Amino acid sequence: MAEKKKLNIGLAGYGFMGRTHTNAYIQADHFFDLKFKPVLKAVCGRGDNVQDFASQWGFESVERDWRRLVERKDIDIVDICLPNRLHAEVAIAAANAGKMIICEKPLAMNAVQGAAMVDAVEKNKVANLVSYNYRRIPAVALAKKIIEEGRLGKIFHSRHLFLQDWTISSDLPQGGTALWRLDANEAGSGVTGDLLAHNIDTAIWLNGPVEKVSAITETFVKERKHNLSGRMEKVSIDDASLFLAKFANGSLATFEATRYARGHKAKFYFELNGEKASLSWDLHDLNRLQFFNHEDEGIVRGWHSIHVTDGEHPYMDKWWVPGLQIGYEHSFVHQVADFLDGLYKGQPASPTFSEALETQKVCDAVLESGKTGRWVTIG
Ligand SMILES: NC(=O)c1ccc[n+]([C@@H]2O[C@H](COP(=O)([O-])OP(=O)(O)OC[C@H]3O[C@@H](n4cnc5c(N)ncnc54)[C@H](O)[C@@H]3O)[C@@H](O)[C@H]2O)c1
Repeated sequence: MAEKKKLNIGLAGYGFMGRTHTNAYIQADHFFDLKFKPVLKAVCGRGDNVQDFASQWGFESVERDWRRLVERKDIDIVDICLPNRLHAEVAIAAANAGKMIICEKPLAMNAVQGAAMVDAVEKNKVANLVSYNYRRIPAVALAKKIIEEGRLGKIFHSRHLFLQDWTISSDLPQGGTALWRLDANEAGSGVTGDLLAHNIDTAIWLNGPVEKVSAITETFVKERKHNLSGRMEKVSIDDASLFLAKFANGSLATFEATRYARGHKAKFYFELNGEKASLSWDLHDLNRLQFFNHEDEGIVRGWHSIHVTDGEHPYMDKWWVPGLQIGYEHSFVHQVADFLDGLYKGQPASPTFSEALETQKVCDAVLESGKTGRWVTIG
């Protein structure tokens, strides 16, 4: 077997996403036939535990300042798993240093920052990808294939949910480690950038560009103690964000994301209704795709629950045997595999920074519409 070219990974951030990405670098090389081998070269983080993380996961070295990581000559790919505030600064520095970049979603705090990131990767001609990992769940990839094959026909409707319930208590503070998502200065926005961004990315991928949106946003808890100042401070994130959308193909959609839907932990759901068929998917049952085909013979017509575990389903020939399921973490393994395969074939894996900027523009439009109460056309 020919020796694979090694690509050294520099991971920035070792929290939730740092773990999913590191696991993916380890697994991808074993399960996929790749021409590159990711090497866990360095991990960067601020906390005291960064050395422990490096030892547990097998990183060769540790940095405490992301600038040092980006400057290192022995790093090929900078992987940004940092709070949203840092995405643009780190990505632009990494692109200017000639590094390939995988960046967590959302691309940036807003579309202005996102556009600067696109300029930086395009000017420096570095490979880039934004981690909208749900595209790479086999059932979601199957939905894409079914739509591309024209099985839905003309699409009229889609509906999209991302429901959680973990911020209902007004005693929950904002800011600092783990709770940076509740601080608009760190996150850019609330559920719009954190949750709806996933829905929007998937919707654009499956159904094409969004033309205009009309949103309502709400902050239910107006003040929370800030972990860094110790004082009660105004909450400036959106706790809930709902919007109507018209797509360029003429279809209409509803989107809803909240962290106040008691009982829901991560209910990411979408449904598309076409002239000939409909489909739906729910993260809580991620190996299944629901499919209704109006062209089926009348007596057996109904919703089919497709268990997406067969060798002919997307990605599944790389895993176990038909009938055996895979999980959330595999979407990140597929993401690494697609990125490295794309490098070899010279076909960039999606979504690139440029593609993810479209999602960022829709997020900005949703927030603007939430403030003004007006329809906003995507610029
Ligand atoms: N794709 C997904 O489904 C998904 C899921 C969760 C989070 N995310 C995204 O991933 C990113 C990280 O989120 P997370 O949940 O992993 O956050 P986290 O709080 O678990 O981890 C953040 C990490 O960043 C480090 N960090 C913070 N400031 C730093 C600095 N100045 N210098 C160096 N390191 C610093 C922290 O030490 C920590 O290791 C966010 O952009 C988030 O939106 C994506």
